[in-house]
Amino acid sequence: MAARPFVTLAFAQSLDGSIALPGQRIELSGPESMKMTHELRAAHDGILVGVGTVIIDDPKLTVRLASGPNPQPIVLDSTLRLPLTASLLNHPDHPLWVAATDPEPNRQSALEALGARVLRLPPASDGRVNLPALLERLGGLGIQTLMVEGGASVITSFLQQRLAHRLVVTISPQLLGGVKAVAALAESVPLRNPAFRALGQDIILEADLF
Ligand SMILES: NC(=O)c1ccc[n+]([C@@H]2O[C@H](COP(=O)([O-])OP(=O)(O)OC[C@H]3O[C@@H](n4cnc5c(N)ncnc54)[C@H](OP(=O)(O)O)[C@@H]3O)[C@@H](O)[C@H]2O)c1
Repeated sequence: MAARPFVTLAFAQSLDGSIALPGQRIELSGPESMKMTHELRAAHDGILVGVGTVIIDDPKLTVRLASGPNPQPIVLDSTLRLPLTASLLNHPDHPLWVAATDPEPNRQSALEALGARVLRLPPASDGRVNLPALLERLGGLGIQTLMVEGGASVITSFLQQRLAHRLVVTISPQLLGGVKAVAALAESVPLRNPAFRALGQDIILEADLF
């Protein structure tokens, strides 16, 4: 069995813990924190988001504001809802990996024709991608370090299942009243060795998790 990757959970939030407004992409990080996020991307083998983020934000997940390699992009997408026009399907270095549980064959063929690789995984009890199984698969594919960038459902799943090792949160000096980064945890998650620093107008919190 391959070793699971070291997982860093990284996201930007407002002071009230919101990462977005419903159905919208919001720029929360200042320029200095954005650069830090790109440096963090370059320091990881893989970068993972949920299909909700792809549908709303259409991210590239590349390293553009720092120097270093682009991590392998991975999307959690049980039934392949990923838009065929997603920017991640035009990645400069890596074919997109899509983690699915129940891929519709025509949809899978269409994504594969665009260069994507569909990783078939067992479902968790809620029918979504079984994250421990995914991490083992990614370890077997050579991903030793994984950055998880969101969105809210994915952040919550990794925390709920205690699968992340490190937390890096950019706290932006604004109140948004939007979609909370973390929803409904069964029990509170204590942070170990928390360290805060100012970066431009933002505050960066780094801490160890489980
Ligand atoms: N501020 C930030 O740093 C930041 C970063 C990223 C995103 N965002 C924001 O976050 C919002 C999107 O968040 P979201 O919660 O709607 O979507 P999301 O977390 O990006 O994606 C959630 C989807 O991923 C799929 N998934 C498959 N397996 C999963 C699992 N084990 N656990 C959780 N999800 C799994 C599910 O869809 P299926 O059931 O179809 O598989 C689920 O609905 C956007 O507004 C975006 O702007 C903010």
